[in-house]
Amino acid sequence: MRTQVGIVGAGPAGLLLSQMLHLRGIESVIIESRSREAIEATIRAGVLEQGTVDLMTEIGAGDRLKREGFVHHGIEIRYQNRNHRINLQELANGRVITVYAQHEVLKDLIKLRLETGGQILFEAKVEAVDEVTGTSPKLRFTTKDGKAQKLTCDFVAGCDGSYGVCRKTVPEDTVRKDYFRVYPAGWFGILAKAPPSSDELIYVHHERGFALVSTRSPSVQRLYFQCDPTDKVENWSDDRIWAELHARVSGDGFRLKEGEIFQKGIIPLRSIVCEPMQHGRLFLAGDAAHSVPPTGAKGLNLAAADVHVLARALGAHYASNSSDLLEAYTSTALRRVWRGQWFSWYMTQLLHRFPDASDFDLKRQLAELQLVTSSRAAATTIAENYVGMPLS
Ligand code: DHB
Repeated sequence: MRTQVGIVGAGPAGLLLSQMLHLRGIESVIIESRSREAIEATIRAGVLEQGTVDLMTEIGAGDRLKREGFVHHGIEIRYQNRNHRINLQELANGRVITVYAQHEVLKDLIKLRLETGGQILFEAKVEAVDEVTGTSPKLRFTTKDGKAQKLTCDFVAGCDGSYGVCRKTVPEDTVRKDYFRVYPAGWFGILAKAPPSSDELIYVHHERGFALVSTRSPSVQRLYFQCDPTDKVENWSDDRIWAELHARVSGDGFRLKEGEIFQKGIIPLRSIVCEPMQHGRLFLAGDAAHSVPPTGAKGLNLAAADVHVLARALGAHYASNSSDLLEAYTSTALRRVWRGQWFSWYMTQLLHRFPDASDFDLKRQLAELQLVTSSRAAATTIAENYVGMPLS
């Protein structure tokens, strides 16, 4: 088999890239280890920056998002049992966010890609990426029915997440350096059949730990609370979950609405950046190159920003044989990646109560929370980074 761009992974990065390349007349094949059903059912975050919404719209995947997504003009930061609003729209030049679940984004992108003639090989496992420093890299993979195959490409896009083969293909130490931080906390996330408790997302600082009140639809709430990252879902009965959430979130006129919990999971908090994001003709994008802690919901948005840069660079290569943008991929993408890393770290350290935190740390956090909810300059920093920079 042969194609122009071999894409490993049908997550947001791989699917967006494939469609953007298609619109530039560039052919690609996506190889994905999971089934379509599994991808479309995996619950992840749900906050889209304006730039991500604009990109989805531009490539023709914005209809359902526009109809069913929820535009939020502000967020609440809650500490010492009181809500403080950050007016995103006013502070960030009219820019806002849209709440629309990541798996809905994936459903829309898979449907569109298949309708426009795209090739996605589901349940096919890439074993190795060969000859990335030559002119024809090859993806060695096993198909759904167990056949060994090879896909020869001009370029490979590694969009296969933190644990995929692509990042490992970039030799550690001699070429690749990973920058990382692991936080002593996880997020326990639930979906509950209950109407939203609040019109806007609430980021909660509490002595018992962080919590987040989010939403998915008029009848489904998405709620999170900080937990021990080694804890087990089985340790948390529904009653215990509601008691913990109420302890952190309810009070002073606000009460969380309860409903049947139909999904539970624990996610770790870590920051990773792999540099460079390119090795030969292999380009890493999204979680294959970096992960952020979830506070601020930057993961999907950073993936969209990477492939926006990559699609333009590949476009320039095929249109005018110019390699300048491809060579600049790492430095162009990393500027935004590190900004996203900083913001995700900033929101995480501002709002979480880590086990090793001292009383001084708590007082310092409260002073900073007062600052960001009373100083226009500090609130503007949060608002601008929360809604994200435009995709340039
Ligand atoms: C959601 C997730 C986030 O990480 C966040 O900061 C806000 C919202 C969500 O899943 O709704």
